[in-house]
Amino acid sequence: MPVKFYQPENQVPLEMHKVRVVQKLALLPVEERLKRIQEAGNNTFLLQNKDIYMDMLTDSGVNGMSDEQVASMSIADDSYAGSETFNRVKAAIKEVFGTENVLPAHQGRAAENILAEAYVKPGMYTLMNFHFTTAKAHITRLGGEVVELVDKKGLIPQTDDPFKGNFDLKELRKTIKELGPEKVSFVRVEAGTNLIGGQPVSLENMLAVTDICHEFGVRSVLDASLLQDNVYFMKTREPRCKFMTTKEIYHTLADRFDIIYFSARKLGFSRGGIITAHDKKFTDEMMEFVPLYEGFLTYGGMEVRSMEAMAVGLYESLDMEYISQGPEFIAYLVKELDDYGVPVIKPAGGLGAHLNCSEIVPNLPHDQYPAAAVGAALYIAGGIRGMERGTVSEQREPDGSERYAELELQRLAMPRRVFTLSQVKYCADRVKWLWDNRQLIGGLKWTYEPKVLRFFFGRMEEIGYWQEDLVKKFREDFGDSL
Ligand SMILES: Cc1ncc(COP(=O)(O)O)c(C=O)c1O
Repeated sequence: MPVKFYQPENQVPLEMHKVRVVQKLALLPVEERLKRIQEAGNNTFLLQNKDIYMDMLTDSGVNGMSDEQVASMSIADDSYAGSETFNRVKAAIKEVFGTENVLPAHQGRAAENILAEAYVKPGMYTLMNFHFTTAKAHITRLGGEVVELVDKKGLIPQTDDPFKGNFDLKELRKTIKELGPEKVSFVRVEAGTNLIGGQPVSLENMLAVTDICHEFGVRSVLDASLLQDNVYFMKTREPRCKFMTTKEIYHTLADRFDIIYFSARKLGFSRGGIITAHDKKFTDEMMEFVPLYEGFLTYGGMEVRSMEAMAVGLYESLDMEYISQGPEFIAYLVKELDDYGVPVIKPAGGLGAHLNCSEIVPNLPHDQYPAAAVGAALYIAGGIRGMERGTVSEQREPDGSERYAELELQRLAMPRRVFTLSQVKYCADRVKWLWDNRQLIGGLKWTYEPKVLRFFFGRMEEIGYWQEDLVKKFREDFGDSL
């Protein structure tokens, strides 16, 4: 239960931890910020951390570690085989999911590669509520096709639907029938859908998906990378979960999905990746790819100290006081932005706040990359680094044409247990300034466009000189402030 304040107007989310290790931050003058973003090709991935005040690029591998996680790292056992560290990871997975069979991988996308290698063949389809960039890239690389079946409500930017990541169950059943179950490599449920605003999936919907999979004899896979936020939303938004413990929810899911995988950069507040299943048949089918691509079966490319931190972090993923901190800070930011009138995805989800750039710069066409433009503008405005989750994050169609994103989002991720509330308020304030000056934001064009995962290292430049105008306006409004 959130702690209630005596004076309702003072109510804010209250951290149930204290900060004991700090990292100095820099906030460069706005003219320097302009230089840095242009040197980075207007791609926030190419900015240097030393030039960033609030790093809201991702929640991946950048979460605050607990004292117990840090302490656990000192007992890491780096023996190549038979490592005690791996036994502790297995014990944590058994506690959290109840599963016995565990394959390690160096991170989430490595687990996706293994799944795709084992089950995707040319001409096959993988059905999912919504794709994630790396999951899709591995499937299409092997000749498979991704079919997205999120309930249409999930793509409406502002609703009060509590579970906008839910599968359209009717469409799922119809699609499996039409394609034929033998053509479906697996059905993948992504908890806390990354690309559509960190929106959760209800327990009821996840279980219904597994029922349909069992009915047709199709494999069901849960991407649990964002499951801890999703479990928080199940507990707070879904009546049937209110009186379940977090552990009961994790176990209920693991009992029904054939395979679970996750990025421990998110679930587990650490680094690494895991595939787990009750039925050994599945891990046996994937096992050979672990030594081939990752490393021996007891470390899978992970560094042993990260594995120890993951084991402790997994236990912490059962603790509502820990797992509520991210979603509560995100809800606070979303409310501040919404109160200011800034178009933001609602209701607040996990992972971060998501600015709806199609409404911030409605006159910018998809091929001038509105979400990337807002991201560059926000760095100029406040030294805040977000991530483009719009057309730049899509892959071009095989014929080279652009695939326009359903939603043009600028994601402001909220690394767990990292920021203070005053920093979150600063972020809301700078976004508000940008919103008030949105008429100054112009488009971007490619100067270097890689073929695969272009959002990571592609480069762009401004169309015209709108960024210089933004700096001028900043100086007019903020004087000599940083
Ligand atoms: C839902 C989801 N699945 C998979 C991944 C890939 O994980 P990793 O970054 O560890 O490769 C991510 C990463 O952001 C994710 O959000």
